[in-house]
Amino acid sequence: MSNQVKFLLNEDQIPKAWYNIQADLPEPAPAVLHPGTGQPIGPEDLAAIFPMALIEQEVSTEREIEIPEPVREIYRQWRPSPLYRARRLEKALDTPARIYYKYEGVSPTGSHKPNTAIAQAYYNMLAGVKRLSTETGAGQWGSSLAMACSAFGLECKVYMVRVSFDQKPYRKALMRTFGAEVTPSPSEETESGRAILAMDPNSPGSLGIAISEAVEIAAQSDSTNYALGSVLNHVMLHQTVIGLETMKQMELAGDEPDILVGCTGGGSNFAGIAFPFLGAKLRGEAYSNLRVLAVEPAACPSLTRGRYAYDFGDTAHLTPLLKMHTLGSTFIPPAIHTGGLRYHGMSPLVSHVLHLGLTDAIGLHQTECFAAGMQFAASEGILPAPEANHAVAGAIREAMRCREEGVSRVILFNLCGHGHFDMSAYTAYLSGNLMDYEYPEEEIAMALAGLPSVGNP
Ligand SMILES: Cc1ncc(COP(=O)(O)O)c(C=O)c1O
Repeated sequence: MSNQVKFLLNEDQIPKAWYNIQADLPEPAPAVLHPGTGQPIGPEDLAAIFPMALIEQEVSTEREIEIPEPVREIYRQWRPSPLYRARRLEKALDTPARIYYKYEGVSPTGSHKPNTAIAQAYYNMLAGVKRLSTETGAGQWGSSLAMACSAFGLECKVYMVRVSFDQKPYRKALMRTFGAEVTPSPSEETESGRAILAMDPNSPGSLGIAISEAVEIAAQSDSTNYALGSVLNHVMLHQTVIGLETMKQMELAGDEPDILVGCTGGGSNFAGIAFPFLGAKLRGEAYSNLRVLAVEPAACPSLTRGRYAYDFGDTAHLTPLLKMHTLGSTFIPPAIHTGGLRYHGMSPLVSHVLHLGLTDAIGLHQTECFAAGMQFAASEGILPAPEANHAVAGAIREAMRCREEGVSRVILFNLCGHGHFDMSAYTAYLSGNLMDYEYPEEEIAMALAGLPSVGNP
């Protein structure tokens, strides 16, 4: 069919194993360090907050890790997700590029986040854990974990970044519908929260602060574990179902991507679509000319302006030290609307592949991204999440370059979520109230000055 738009797989083509890029890296990613000793941490250091199955996945170098059947059973609700050819967008842009997008907004909560939420809730349930605590920015992750906890009979406690808690009442209601308890962060409930409020009673919060609160309560309770929506290796692993399906779907379409684009907050949707392709490239099997592009907000530019260094994953310094692109754990990003991208650090695996020169990264301003999202919605009829708008904008830039150069390249991007709960951000954009923000060099330098000395000679 020459004008086909959707490329679909059957339920029995849901991947049976996740893909682990750690098996194919030319150099292993740096070890996670204990902040006290400066030595690599062992499984026992993480056992207070994670089940052993996830700790094993965190350090595994096996190429394939089997997806448990009960997890695949729930994946069936929305997986395999569709791959679209953006024919109407191509026409609107008058580009010779062939544009494809993998749409993760078909999940029950509207983004890629349930791919790992379901897996994490499952392993915790098996380990006898009763409650999961977590942080959320935009509310996409919190609602996904709340949904996953309700599927496996677990309680769920969510610390929601204050600015999003105020801006996104409907995500909050969705989490509560699934039975979760939602608290604005910083809160008075934890030592980490109280310390921040003592310094700034009006703190807008940040993912770094909310992580501290969620980790704190998990570390203090035997029946509560912590779940993270991005950054860690096991989260990247679970998200590879996206790329694994996309490879099969691109084969159906008879095309190979020349450029692959994803947005990055903590790195998981980007890794999810990119790592299986990068793995095949690293093994010399395919995609030898593939260029992979990460797009982040210019207002929270960890990959493009941060330092590749050991840093804490949270603001109160309760986590081990991760080698990652970071803006410093005290960095509190401005209240841009893309809540899911406001994190000071980045996945160590995504940081490592950038450091090895296997991917590129750019930072874009939010008004360009919203303009791109509007153009995409007008052509394709799907309203992207503000985070996903960064990938849309990156793809449109590449498509315009094809037009200028008169070259027809294949551009593939991950449309990681819909924006139906983000209408206040679109309303702000439409009424001209969204401002671009360039993070001042001095402030980044100041936050980076606080990097730990351990691991950073
Ligand atoms: C729709 C959406 N996209 C992207 C992100 C950023 O996270 P990650 O980089 O881990 O995909 C979020 C985070 O909440 C999100 O909700």
